[in-house]
Amino acid sequence: MKIYRNYCLKKHNTFNVDAIASIFAEYTTDDEIIEYIRTNEGKFKQVKHLIVGEGSNLLFTGDFYGMVLHPLTKYISVQSEDNDFCLIEAAAGVIWDDFVGWTSSHMAFGLENLSLIPGTVGASAVQNVGAYGVEAGDYIHSVKYIDLHSGELISLSSEQCKFSYRNSIFKNELKNNFLILSVTYKLSRKPVINIEYADLRNCFGERSDVSPREIREAVINIRNNKLPDPEVTGNAGSFFKNPVIDKLKFNVLKERFSDLRFYELADGNYKLAAGWLIDKCGLKGFEHNGAAVHDKQALVLINKSGNATGKDITGLAYIVREKVKEKFDVCLEPEVIFI
Ligand code: FAD
Ligand code: EPU
Repeated sequence: MKIYRNYCLKKHNTFNVDAIASIFAEYTTDDEIIEYIRTNEGKFKQVKHLIVGEGSNLLFTGDFYGMVLHPLTKYISVQSEDNDFCLIEAAAGVIWDDFVGWTSSHMAFGLENLSLIPGTVGASAVQNVGAYGVEAGDYIHSVKYIDLHSGELISLSSEQCKFSYRNSIFKNELKNNFLILSVTYKLSRKPVINIEYADLRNCFGERSDVSPREIREAVINIRNNKLPDPEVTGNAGSFFKNPVIDKLKFNVLKERFSDLRFYELADGNYKLAAGWLIDKCGLKGFEHNGAAVHDKQALVLINKSGNATGKDITGLAYIVREKVKEKFDVCLEPEVIFI
């Protein structure tokens, strides 16, 4: 394990915000980190700690006075397969889109709609990443983690992970207590074609012969056109979650705003498009201390100047929240994790 002190995190968060970690430790094998945790039993009860994958959903609002653990584990292995399904285990440190590309080219289908989401395989389970009508949890078979306090290795089934919209057991009951070592996905041997999401429907029209490769290419194109590349402009994707409101409130809003963008949920509630709400407040392109609302997708906040601090971006998020609350009486909850 490589350990650095007073380590700059600018290259480890996609907002490209300057922040220092007191200790930064990176490891390349599961054995290394397991041994470290077991020989330092009790350490993580006392020492503040954070696991950072690609830092693509994190906002550092100041320096981090604690220990950052950064996985660089890279294995992908087929656990079992038959004519219908295959179980593929990938290390937490594998780059998510490398994994999606790998599965698709190894005739293991289902993840194409999740192409080009930044981040790591480990975080895909924490976040239950989702896009274009698919969520990681739809295909996760199990998640292997180490309990940071006891050093015990534990495997959770998909059901035990309690996946829901951008949420899982890892953000709740297990928060701060675990480090994911690998995630096993159960993928289909036969192409899975899911092109119901509006952007994909627009691409393929009524075609019924779409291939997984075409879906992957279409998703990559759509994302490249809409979302800023963090290599060029710092951002963490959607800054807020799409808010869910009940039917009563929905009816009031729909009456006032006939062009409201929404999705009806199975439980009778409604999910609103937060990007549309922000856009409708006239905030596209709005700037605050070097941070800005992206001009192609209002749900994305960017580090426009390249020098915005976590506090500048937080300030912008506050303004956006207030404006949306004032106009629609809807509270936006951040998707981004504040550190
Ligand atoms: P980090 O940001 O480093 O960490 C996220 C959380 O996971 C933290 O709590 C961290 O402690 C925890 N974590 C990470 N690895 C481990 C591990 N091994 N063990 C335990 N905990 C761990 N998200 C979507 O869902 N859909 C999208 O379409 C989408 N589009 C995006 C587009 C852009 C341009 C960007 C920048 C982000 C986008 N995101 C999207 C958000 C982001 O890509 C996901 O949240 C991703 O899963 C984060 O991965 P990461 O490795 O960067 O995690
Ligand atoms: N819209 C506007 N103006 C905007 C942005 C969006 O009017 O500035 C409208 C769009 O026209 C569309 C609706 O809002 O009718 C939804 O927009 P979009 O399809 O771009 O999706 P989103 O709801 O903004 C969500 C996820 C994304 C994911 C896409 C595709 C959340 C918080 N965000 O965005 O995930 O990639 O759907 O599935 O659920 C992320 O989590 O970081 C992320 C990027």
